[in-house]
Amino acid sequence: MKSIVVLISGNGSNLQAIIDHCAQGKIAGNVTAVISNKADVYGLERAANSDIPAHVIKHNHYVEREPYDKALQACIDQYQPDLVVLAGFMRILTADFVNHYAGKMVNIHPSLLPKYKGLHTHQRAIDAGDKEHGASVHFVTADLDGGPIIIQSKVPIFAADSADELAERVQEQERLMYPAVVNWYCQERLTMQDQQVFMDGQLLGSQGYAAD
Ligand code: GAR
Repeated sequence: MKSIVVLISGNGSNLQAIIDHCAQGKIAGNVTAVISNKADVYGLERAANSDIPAHVIKHNHYVEREPYDKALQACIDQYQPDLVVLAGFMRILTADFVNHYAGKMVNIHPSLLPKYKGLHTHQRAIDAGDKEHGASVHFVTADLDGGPIIIQSKVPIFAADSADELAERVQEQERLMYPAVVNWYCQERLTMQDQQVFMDGQLLGSQGYAAD
């Protein structure tokens, strides 16, 4: 069984989906720790409800990014994880931190990357008049929201959509897609080499697995 450490900043619905899939034997691994940069977030309750060790490392106790990332790394490495999963972890990470977990850290981002890196992705897709939107799972590299894409999931944007309605539609897809990716990784089917993604030894295209 692989050891999975999950980093969160909030609600933790993706964390919950991964915990549930592990409990149901649908992921060849276990969540061994949850780490949040914020106290009092619901994701920490989810960890407690499943008896998973949880840590809060508050970013506002650190002025600089480097010492924060060093503290985070020390906490993560106690668990010797095979995989680090960023699940709504809203921090920009230093290159040293990212490189330490090269090929072992994945992120989920609520847009069809490379569109809408950064924040407020749902509103930006609506404002642009896009007809479709979605989420992407990618390996984390030093390029913010720019690492090689593993898989994307698309949803339609309807004329009357608010950003919240669209976010909910996207997050439903996230909760299906992210546990599947975590399982592929744990089954050693998914790798990153030279900034490219391989699934079962096959190079994936720039939009990842089965984008269309
Ligand atoms: C998810 O929609 C995820 O894509 C997004 O935060 C949400 C977390 O939800 N991540 C980012 O915006 C990262 N840049 P959750 O806490 O319920 O899993």
